[in-house]
Amino acid sequence: MIEQNSKNINIHEITRLILAAKEKAMKETESTPEPGLTGLIKWPVTCLVGPGLEGAISCETKVGYVNGAKGWLIYRGYDIFDLCAYSTFEEVSYLLLFGELPSKEALDVFKKKLIDYRSIINTQRFLMSFALEEMNTMAAMRMGVNFMRQEFSYKGARAENKVVIGSDEDSIAMETTPRGEERAIYEFAREEDEKERELEMCYHLIGGVPAIAATISRIRNGKLPIEPDPSLSHSANFLYMMTGIRPTPLEERIMDVCLILHADHGMNASTFAAMVVASTLSDFYFSIGSGIAALNGPLHGGANEQVMNMLKEISSPENVKSWLQDKIDKKARVMGFGHRVYKAYDPRARVLGPLAEYLASFSDAETQKLFQTAKVLEQEVITAFGAKKGIFPNVDFYSGIVYSCLGIQAELFTPIFAVSRVAGWTSRVLEYLKNNRIFRPRAMYVGDFAKE
Ligand code: CMC
Repeated sequence: MIEQNSKNINIHEITRLILAAKEKAMKETESTPEPGLTGLIKWPVTCLVGPGLEGAISCETKVGYVNGAKGWLIYRGYDIFDLCAYSTFEEVSYLLLFGELPSKEALDVFKKKLIDYRSIINTQRFLMSFALEEMNTMAAMRMGVNFMRQEFSYKGARAENKVVIGSDEDSIAMETTPRGEERAIYEFAREEDEKERELEMCYHLIGGVPAIAATISRIRNGKLPIEPDPSLSHSANFLYMMTGIRPTPLEERIMDVCLILHADHGMNASTFAAMVVASTLSDFYFSIGSGIAALNGPLHGGANEQVMNMLKEISSPENVKSWLQDKIDKKARVMGFGHRVYKAYDPRARVLGPLAEYLASFSDAETQKLFQTAKVLEQEVITAFGAKKGIFPNVDFYSGIVYSCLGIQAELFTPIFAVSRVAGWTSRVLEYLKNNRIFRPRAMYVGDFAKE
């Protein structure tokens, strides 16, 4: 925990650290987009695909871009470092949803929507009737989104009410080479009010999911959920609803940067899961619930909690070398390192590392030791695998230390990831639905035929 009374804490230092991280990244990475990874494509597209759909192009997007070789992360044309330095989570959510940073008036309207939807009293009431203290927090998050669906008075009869305007996709033999249809063949007419309703669901989810996480946190700590404070920013209110205490400007700023950093990240597993569900014309709540389910895994968002367990297990910088050697001998994964896309230093870790260091310097001796252990582990892992295998710290490596410094318990780390990523999930689903085609890859059948 940060020593709140420390006189040396300086909120402007956060912006300085982010800009310093940007400068370092600019020096270490190239600045021109890589040919072949951006630009319009003509369907059907030819690409080299590895297992786990590695390299597969599943759609076109303007929402965001990740360049793993160079360590870039871009939301709607804006560099992640600049958004962290100069923007807020509300502005970034608007940017992801609509493609542009908001005017003052548009931001006010958007903020009002999110503030209205912070209040999810029925969902909180439903959640209270379950033994949340015995439940995986991500399972509770997923359940909360189902309750939000109910709260939105969704009638649940989506497809049945639709006017069919095309032929049946199921009648097309799927295990064939692609013909490159640019949109769904089996289609429903989407009314104008349906589009407005979809946007409303996005606002509801972005505004309400933090309240679910906060409610889960409180109930697990034996406290009653509390009402949101409409005078607070999105990040400050989230912290307030968790702790019952209005955060300091520093805590608010740190949470805001964390939410901005986690908001979107290309076609990652949870985004893809959310999009697959949405592509069946299921609804936003089912879709976001699937994103939460996928995010839970330790290879994805669940790694942040595991990193903290790992650092506690190593327990001090002196133990790092022998601990790592043991992992290498056993060919085990080191949590918080490596990435499917980044083979360079993850830009999110470039920001979170210095933030963790800054916050740890104002924290208790235990947190400082944890940070020192992390720092030595980073050096040792980079020496062992860095250049050879392109394995560097990812977003999950330092985020846990940052959250711990804010006094947040480990089981809330992955829910916080969801609180942020819901902006990316909804934006990408919204974009995809404009030109929807049901996701349907194929598997290579390697089984038998004509068995008797
Ligand atoms: N520790 C040790 N070795 C690793 C690690 C690691 N964390 N990650 C990858 N490798 C090695 C792996 O053993 C393999 O070596 P070899 O070629 O000798 O067999 C090589 O690197 C390639 O690994 P891969 O499994 O093909 O890589 P992938 O792209 O399928 O997996 C990953 C990506 C994130 C699942 C993996 O790096 C991993 O398991 N990391 C640890 C878990 C973690 O931190 N996850 C959070 C990811 S970031 C949050 C998010 O965006 O979701």
